[in-house]
Amino acid sequence: MDHLQPIGIFDSGYGGLTVMREIVQLLPEYDYLYLGDNARTPYGNRSFETVFHYTWQCVQYLFSCNCHLVILACNTASAKALRTIQQRYLPVSFPERRVLGVIRPTTEKAREFTLTGALGILATQGTVQSGSYVMEIKKFFPDVRVYQQACPMWVPLVENNEHLGPGADYFVEKYIQQLFQQAADIDALLLACTHYPLLLPKISKYVPPHVRLISQGPLVATSLKDYLRRHPEIDQCCSKTGRRDFLTTDSAEWFARQATVFYGEKVEAQQIRLDAV
Ligand code: DGL
Repeated sequence: MDHLQPIGIFDSGYGGLTVMREIVQLLPEYDYLYLGDNARTPYGNRSFETVFHYTWQCVQYLFSCNCHLVILACNTASAKALRTIQQRYLPVSFPERRVLGVIRPTTEKAREFTLTGALGILATQGTVQSGSYVMEIKKFFPDVRVYQQACPMWVPLVENNEHLGPGADYFVEKYIQQLFQQAADIDALLLACTHYPLLLPKISKYVPPHVRLISQGPLVATSLKDYLRRHPEIDQCCSKTGRRDFLTTDSAEWFARQATVFYGEKVEAQQIRLDAV
């Protein structure tokens, strides 16, 4: 694997696999290396400093595996760590490497999602508190009204494979009701956490039928394709033999078992130690 230059895909746990799945489908020829920080997930309710520290450690690990381009397939990491990595750390320590997130590819399309101009954002506590979605969307589309709702119980439900069980209904209904109490004319809901597409069957049960539900995977994949076309100097640093590898900071066996739910096919994983960076 030493000769390969895979595209790195990072998430706090399994959620990024919902993004990787779409990327791989659109750009199958590239090599990919996924890293899930399962030992320290969830990130959603951690401080800015902690999320930054964990994310930067994982990005550097992916750099050490020869990834020239890393996608933070995690909203919490994109909201709390991406800007610092891009502006402060890469220029000094890794000027040739690139790190991209999932917020920009989503927010730049926000106007297309809603007819009423009222857009709901469902996300982790960390993403909501960062205000990143509100700021970015206002920058592109000042006329869009953005309503946010933190859903702190959703990631634990998904990570514990309880997202389709009867226990999930209570928390899905609760957060959706809280969001619609903010504005009844919301006609589009953005699932701004890479874990949430797994909850779609439950979410659709509690959302009025005319409301559009938007998952990020396809948006991020299309945006990456466009990025690679516009940046041939980065594209040529990404090898293309169609290989996929999976790393986790926790048990490889658990990862392989659970990852299928998110990725849609069986994977084999390898456990890594981050202190080896
Ligand atoms: N999947 C991540 C996101 O998109 C966060 C999950 C977590 O809380 O770690 O925000």
